[in-house]
This record gives sequence, C-alpha cells and structure tokens, in this order.
Amino acid sequence: MIVLIGPMGAGKTTVGRLVAARLGSAVRDTDHDVEATAGRPISDIFVEDGEEAFRALERAAVADALASHDGVLTLGGGAVLDPGTRELLAGHDVVFLRVGLADAVKRVGLGTGRPLLLGNVRGRIKTLLDERTPVYESVATLVVDTDGRTPEDVAGEIVAAL
Ligand code: S3P
Repeated sequence: MIVLIGPMGAGKTTVGRLVAARLGSAVRDTDHDVEATAGRPISDIFVEDGEEAFRALERAAVADALASHDGVLTLGGGAVLDPGTRELLAGHDVVFLRVGLADAVKRVGLGTGRPLLLGNVRGRIKTLLDERTPVYESVATLVVDTDGRTPEDVAGEIVAAL
C-alpha cells in the first residue's frame, strides 16, 4: 500500500487520485470512510463526540483499508498523531507530502468546514505544522516537497520514487 500523509493543504486527496490513476490502482481516503461509516460529516463527529472519538474511528478506517485494499490510501492530516495508527503503517510505503505555511493556507482557503481550523486559519495551520512535522517525518519512508508544485508534478515524483 502507498499511504499519503501530511497536513491539511498538502494535496493528499488530489495527489492520491493522480498516483492511483498512474498506477492503475484504486484510492481509498480515511476521511471519506469515517464519514460513510459514521453517517455524519467529520465536523459533526468532532463537535458531538470530540477529537479522541474521531481518532478512534480514523484508526479503525486505516486498519480496515490496509486489510481490504491494495493501492493508494490517503489519511486525514491528524491520523498519524494516534500511536495505534502509526503502528498500523509499519511496513508500508508512507509518503509525507510536505507543505509550507503559505502554500497550505492558500490551498486550504477560508471557510472549508475543517473543525480544527475554525477561527484563525493561518494561525491554526502554523501551530499544526509546527507540532506535527516531526511526527510526519518520523513515520515517512519518503518525503516529497509540494510548495509551488502542481499535483501532477508531485504525483510523478512519487511514482518514480516507489
Ligand atoms: C484533520 C484533517 C482533516 C480531517 C479532520 C482532522 C487534522 O483531513 O481528518 O478535519 O487533524 O489535521 P484533511 O487533512 O484531509 O483535511
């Protein structure tokens, strides 16, 4: 399995689709799977049940995808904060899509409905990048820079590298 990790705005969903298309394989996305299983949007899960409950659903989605799918898997930006999720990823190709603050803010935009960004998009993204970059780096088997690059270009580098 090729697993794409990285913060919101790294381009995981777009790049994941392109990598899967180039490899002739399918893509799964944990945000999508969690929403389908829970029957609610992620923002509702955060508000009603809290982040910890969301991380548990996310961990279950990762475990299910790794067991039942072969191809490309894109994770939500905070999935690798969960130690159980990190353990599940051992032995897989894990690609960290790195993005700097300016490009992440530009790509995420305003009013995206992402619960962790409410109030102050730029400030929240900066904090998340500072806190999480060491975690992404520790889990990744490949790091790809995305700043100023098109998703096609990034996908091409991943396919060539794996
Ligand atoms: C989150 C990222 C989101 C989604 C949830 C939490 C995070 O996924 O899983 O809102 O903690 O960074 P994307 O990275 O696909 O936006």
